[in-house]
Amino acid sequence: MEKVYILGGAQTDFERNWSKEGKNVIALLKEVINSALKNVNLTYEDIKKLNKQNKIAVCIGNFAAEYYINQGHLGPLLTEVNEAFYGVPSARYEAACASGSVAIDSAISKIRLGDYDLVIVVGFELMKTVNAKVCGDYLGRAAIYEREAKGIEFPFPKLFGKLADEYVKKYNLDEERYKENLAKISCINYGNAKRNPNAQTRKWFMNEKQANFRGNPTNEKIGSMLSISDCSQVTDGAAVVVLASENYTKKNKLENKPIIKGYGHRVAPYEFDKKMQESKDNEYILPWTREAVCDAYRRANLSVDDIDLFETHDCFTSSEYMAISAFGITEPGKEYEVIENGTIDFTGSKPINPSGGLIGCGHPVGASGVRMMLDLYKQIANEAGNYQIKNAKNALMLNIGGSATTNYVFIVGK
Ligand code: CAA
Repeated sequence: MEKVYILGGAQTDFERNWSKEGKNVIALLKEVINSALKNVNLTYEDIKKLNKQNKIAVCIGNFAAEYYINQGHLGPLLTEVNEAFYGVPSARYEAACASGSVAIDSAISKIRLGDYDLVIVVGFELMKTVNAKVCGDYLGRAAIYEREAKGIEFPFPKLFGKLADEYVKKYNLDEERYKENLAKISCINYGNAKRNPNAQTRKWFMNEKQANFRGNPTNEKIGSMLSISDCSQVTDGAAVVVLASENYTKKNKLENKPIIKGYGHRVAPYEFDKKMQESKDNEYILPWTREAVCDAYRRANLSVDDIDLFETHDCFTSSEYMAISAFGITEPGKEYEVIENGTIDFTGSKPINPSGGLIGCGHPVGASGVRMMLDLYKQIANEAGNYQIKNAKNALMLNIGGSATTNYVFIVGK
């Protein structure tokens, strides 16, 4: 099977609010594409040459531009960035918050087929065109809207709040201890974000006292036991990774670049309550998420012992809690052990979200999968700067769409 290499890429500063700056999607894409091309030593002339040979393609991940910015038909958008993209086959991929991953998946297939040497994968979302409540309603389209979101304020914090309730019940956990564990997860992500120069919350304040101050006006409850501090952010941003074939890396002496070693892709029953019904007798609360992780380990011929760091979809602290056992770091129901003993801290043996994750780095939904892949690349290429995990050889990402309905896992290594 043809190897797929990651040459590099770029992300925008997730702290920025593009509406307040008066800048539109084309400005966003111009900035991120220019930075990414610079990062991988490519020029627009190189793109024209590759396009003449029909060896380059573009995959765009985005969830809801039709709602946020009144823009559909996103595939050809890069032609507005530079005329070098005239004629380059480009399409949009959508899987809610896993849109970036489904775009990466398609890019991998294009390279494995041998048809393309380079695929530029772009993920983006501009969410700050509306306030957080309207934004929450738009995001509700990633659930079964009629039953799980219509007329409900902040549907996703409520769905992942239900996951927290179900967790406590299923594994007979002490609720106060569980909530403290969630607060610790939040603080680890905010803390890690402080090392990341592109993280949305790098200048924000958070500590365990504040994260445990649930129900206080400064940390209001938003979905069952979850408070504001348990939530990922509403973010404007874009990320790019450039994937390449073995043929291309050989020609350009880039064979030491990281490769994609394995992937997993599974969908679960759409509606949250059906997920819970289906997993009633299963040891995992979200067995299809676990299955996607196992598929990736099998395809990469690796196990959890081989993974040096994880980037996970902490859309809420309850989803990161669940991911710990889905990764195999602990048995299901025993996640508290590694939260409390420092294993998942930045300096622990199984660090989760050195970037700050969706809570700390930010969550421009269509971009998040691509941002995670970029962070895996940086860690394996030893280019993560202040948030570098020492001697990282293999890294794993989990990107989720809906209430863990679409589950995507990738493993990157040398
Ligand atoms: N310090 C400094 N500034 C702060 C701050 C702090 N501690 N907290 C907020 N701010 C600033 C922000 O930077 C922002 O400034 P700009 O307007 O300049 O950008 C401003 O205050 C308002 O911030 P927020 O929009 O974060 O605050 P809010 O109170 O309006 O919203 C929230 C808070 C309701 C928790 C919101 O962040 C939210 O809805 N989060 C969840 C988002 C979500 O549900 N995402 C989808 C997850 S589900 C999934 O991933 C799967 C899928 O398929 C959908």
